[in-house]
Order: sequence, then C-alpha cells, then structure tokens
Amino acid sequence: MSVIDKDDLPSNPSANEHFNDVVERAVSRRALLKGGAGLSAAMFLGGMLSACGGGNGGSSATPTPVPTPVPTPVPSALGFKAVATSSADSIVVPQGYKYQVIAPWGSPLFADSPAWKPDGSNTGDEQARQVGDNHDGMTFFAMTDAAGKEKSDEGLLVVNHEYCNYEYLYKLEAGQPPLEPWTLDKVRKAQNAHGISVIHVRKVGGQWEVVLNSMYNRRLTGNSPMQLTGPVAGHALVKTAADAAGVNVLGTLNNCGNGYTPWGTYLTCEENFNGYFGATDPAFAADPLQKRYGIDKAGFGYRWHELDNRFDVSKTPNEPNRFGWIVEIDPFDPKSTPKKRTALGRIKHENAAVTIAKSGHVVVYMGDDQANDYAYKFVSTGKYDPANPAANRNLLDSGKLYVAKFNAGAVSGDMMGSGEWVLLDKVANPVLAADTRFADQGELLVKTRLAADAVGATKMDRPEWVTVHPQTGEVYITMTNNSGRSTTDEANPRPKNSWGQIVRWREAGGDATATSFEWDLFVLAGNPLAFPDRKDLRSGSANVTTDNTFNSPDGLAFDKSGRLWIQTDGNFSNTGDYLGQGNNQMLIADVNSKEIRRFLVGPSGCEITGISWTPDQKTVFINVQHPGEVGNHPNKPALAAGETMDQLLAKNPLAFCKWPDAAGGRPRSATVAIWREDGGIVGA
Ligand code: FEO
Ligand code: CA
Ligand code: CA
Ligand code: CA
Repeated sequence: MSVIDKDDLPSNPSANEHFNDVVERAVSRRALLKGGAGLSAAMFLGGMLSACGGGNGGSSATPTPVPTPVPTPVPSALGFKAVATSSADSIVVPQGYKYQVIAPWGSPLFADSPAWKPDGSNTGDEQARQVGDNHDGMTFFAMTDAAGKEKSDEGLLVVNHEYCNYEYLYKLEAGQPPLEPWTLDKVRKAQNAHGISVIHVRKVGGQWEVVLNSMYNRRLTGNSPMQLTGPVAGHALVKTAADAAGVNVLGTLNNCGNGYTPWGTYLTCEENFNGYFGATDPAFAADPLQKRYGIDKAGFGYRWHELDNRFDVSKTPNEPNRFGWIVEIDPFDPKSTPKKRTALGRIKHENAAVTIAKSGHVVVYMGDDQANDYAYKFVSTGKYDPANPAANRNLLDSGKLYVAKFNAGAVSGDMMGSGEWVLLDKVANPVLAADTRFADQGELLVKTRLAADAVGATKMDRPEWVTVHPQTGEVYITMTNNSGRSTTDEANPRPKNSWGQIVRWREAGGDATATSFEWDLFVLAGNPLAFPDRKDLRSGSANVTTDNTFNSPDGLAFDKSGRLWIQTDGNFSNTGDYLGQGNNQMLIADVNSKEIRRFLVGPSGCEITGISWTPDQKTVFINVQHPGEVGNHPNKPALAAGETMDQLLAKNPLAFCKWPDAAGGRPRSATVAIWREDGGIVGA
C-alpha cells in the first residue's frame, strides 16, 4: 500500500565509468606525485580530506599532503549554537529561533476551498482546491511595494508536491481492507495531491498567514493543462490519441526539487514519473527506452493504470515521454500555461540551478537522481536581458545540453580532478550523429539517458540538488548515497556509500559556459559515532564530527551571503551505520572553513527539503516532507500478530507520528517558516 521508491536501484546498463573509480584514480595520481605510492587509497584520501578543515572551531592545523595556500582566517559565517540529534516527533531549532507551520497538506487554498477533514475523507475534487501533499522544492517570490522594492513580509510561496502516501491519503472504509474499494475518485485524489501550489503568504503581527482570497493562489495538479515546448514539441514520440499535435499535455508529476529564473519564473522538476505508469496487458514487456527510465508493469503501486488509460502504457505508450521534463511556471500570472522545456533534457530531474554566465547566456545545472546516473548542464542559445523581461521568456527553449564526464586529470593544487562537459547534440557530436537510435534532436532529448550512456558520461551516486555559489560561481552537488555497492577494494574506498558526499566543481576560467572544469569533494559524509577511528573513511572527512554527523545529503542551496544549507533525506534508524544520527536534519556549512553545523532536526519519518529565503534573509522557509513514513524508525509502533504496518496506520493514522498536530488526524507534510527572535539574518 505504501508506494515504493526504486531510485536506489540502478537502471543504467552502460559500461561507463563510475565516479568512485575516478576518485580512486585522482587519489592514486596524487599519491604518486607526492611519492606516497605505498599509501592505500583510503589512507591517502583520509589524509587529504582531514586537511580540508576543522570541526566546530573551523580551523585546521594539520599539514596538507598537497601544497594548498593557507587561507587568511576569517570569522565563521555561522552564528548559531548547533542543535543535538533527535529521534523525537518534533522540530528542533537553535536557541533564539522561532518557527511556524504553514500550509500543511489539505489546508484550504482558496476562499471557497472545502475544509480539511482529519479522517482522510476529502474527495478528489476537494483535494484539487486544497494544498497538495509531500511538499518538496519551493521558492518564495517576493511581492514589491509601491516603489518597486521587494518585500520581505509578503510574497508567493510556490511549492512542489512530489508524491503522496497512500497509508495516510484515504479514509479506511468500514469493513474493507486499506484502499478498497479502489475507485476513480481515489485515483483523482492522488493525482490532485500532486503538482504545485502557488500560495500568497504574508506576515502579520509576527505570524505568517495564507491570503485565502488572493488572485494569485493556484493549484496545478497531475491533470492541469500544460504545453511541451522546444525541440520535442510536436514530435511523433509525444503524440497520443488524445493529443494528435504532441503539444498539449495534462499535468506534471513527481515534482521534486526546483529552480527559479532571474526573470521571475519557477522551475519545477519531474523526477520519478515512471512510477505512475503500469500495464494492464499481461503480455506487456518494456522496450529498452522504457527500461532505462524504469517503466514496468506494476509501477510503484499507485494503481492509476487500472482505472485511467492515460497511465496504462499498454494503451497509451507515448504518455511517459510527456514526463521527465523541467516545467516553467509564471507564478504572477495565474492564467498562464506552464511550459515543459524539452531542450533541458528528459531525465529523473532533481532540481535546476540557474546562473547567468558572464557572457549573458543562461546556464542550468541539473542532476538525474538514480543510482549510477549523471549530472547535466544546459547553456542557452540566447542571452539574458535584464532590461527586457519579455525577451527572456523562451530562453530555455533553445541551447546546448551537456553531460558531465569526470577525469582524474591534471588540476590546480587544491582540486582532485578535471572534467569535461560532453555535448548531447545529434548533429555536432559525431558519436550521436552516427547512432541510429536518435533520428533527430527531438528523439535524442526524449532518450536523454541513452544519449548520455553513449558518450561515456560518469556514473554518480544518485545526484540530487545542485547549487551555485553566489559569489565564486563554484557549483556544489549532493550525491545522496549508493546502497548498490557492497565490496571494499582499492577502487571503492568505502564498503558501501551509506552516507553520501557533496562534490563541487569550478568551471574553466570561471566561465559557466566552459566545456571543462575541475572538481573535488567538499564533504564525504560519514559517522564517527559508529566508526570512531578517523582513519576509517566510514567516519567521513574531517569536517564531519561527532557533533554534526549526518547521512544522505539531498536538498542543497546557497543563501545570498554564501552560506551552504544542507538538508538530509536518509536513514533515520539511529543504529548501525546511522548510530546517533537521529531524524533527518538541516545543517549549514561555511564553505571557506568547511565547518558544518546542525541547524534543525525534523519530526518522525520525514525528510527536510525545499528551501527559500525572504529577500532580507530574516525568514527561511523549509519543507517537512512525508512525516510519518515509518521505515526503520526506532519509535515505530509494534504490530499485532499477522498485522501489516499499513493496516495499523489505516486504523490509527496517529500511531507513529502526530506532526504537525494530532488535531490534523494524521501526519501531514507542511512548510515551516523559521526566524530569529532578535530579528537577525537566519544562520548568521
Ligand atoms: Fe525527489 Fe531525488 O528526491
Ligand atoms: Ca523528496
Ligand atoms: Ca530530493
Ligand atoms: Ca532523496
């Protein structure tokens, strides 16, 4: 009944090199350069990482094995007292901070919205007029005052609703097992719990509130009209019986991370869209394209294909090709049609980090979140024109799409390797020009993963969020974890990547449109509580301490001042590899000293995600997603003989988690606004 998450399972059959092998080669090369050929890779990497910076003091006196210039000591960018880990069903913020829950799943979005029903009995139509479920990526778009200045107490909060939890979505019908009878209204309720909410919010009397009668409030769901634009619009591969033009799509799904543009639009990223599709034809067998994107007979257990032919791939085989895109939305025009920008490629999009190159070209960095998938970059053909907002509207429809290849290569002193951006273009790349699987650029984009396989992109440990440093232009990306590996050898310095890492790169010449870069590891997450020997790479790099230990970095974003906010979506069992790490959390890093400090811990079963600030940086908004997902949490309820967890939760939805409040009748994803009691900048 709980939908399942298959993103740990690789679907990449290519023989392309894995990032871990590149790390190994980079380390070996530098060990040789330093005359350290006798060192094991683990010891060398450990030594190098331990030179990267201090723990809570933020200083490092350890001599480095690489001649790195010693930076002038600067005061820490972090000005709050770290919080301890917790497995409790509540939010923990630092001393001197306040928080407020806003817009939980199912709360009214319009003046005439139906009220939330704590027993889960709201219908599909009602859900379409309420805030969606599983809040994920999010941006606060400030309103402007009469003088045109951005306000920090009023704006549009645009929120992704990634998926839904069937164990909490529906009311248990008397005398029936959970989910039964399965009806079209239940399918519609699930589809309408997905998508986007545009929520007009303002701060009045020290509290944030939703402006219910605002003209800007909007719900986009799995059924809202949208358009395909760019090279794939009108392509044979996206035409269906219901849309002969191959342009008019219904809905956006699995809206995971996000981005935003300097011309005031929101980018929502379609991630695990494959899970909604299934096949009623018992003879259905996935073709190579479907397999590479994880389309199969059962999907993730959403059961839409049983009652809605659009999601039955044996009846509507091209429908999945209409998902897996980045969608651009104008939050300030509630009548505008969202555009699926196909030039940015079709992958399991995590988020989209937009930056403007010195040349004026728009650059978008993107990760494909599946074990052993890739990192991408888009460079627009046109240039951003700050003086002419209308001219920027379709910049994302034309440009060059690249995939990252990481090399050990020769690099500057403080970096570990080099890399190149390989162009995914049907005409300009001879490998792809010769490949008959791609008749034209449109087909190549629908099959982005296959094209990236063909050019030898580097396999990564589940790329999640990417973010660009606002001053230096360096790019940081989370590799959340990879449970797929289970051996330890020279090529894989850790037995398995239970904790993840943050990789960063510097584009050649500081030019975001460059086709080469240099990279290193900003942090190798690990657990010194479980593995106290600091020579053991499972303890993490030296900037991981017993005070800040965490696993599975996912959400990642720089604030305007250059503080790096890190959000986790990992294992909260608090045992084994994860001993003492508690619930999912949010930390902040000073990227100069590499110090990382824990800022927040979330309630039971959630991940922490979605981050945005008011322009004055005095309020930070985050999302608590899927509170109540039981998993292997230490406080999970005990089952009666023969009972499943889904049956227990259907009867008593508050048995494991009551967040944000028991009056809601079940755990609910929600946005959380956080500010300092003294009115200062958050995190400083
Ligand atoms: Fe939706 Fe990869 O997180
Ligand atoms: Ca998520
Ligand atoms: Ca994520
Ligand atoms: Ca994740």
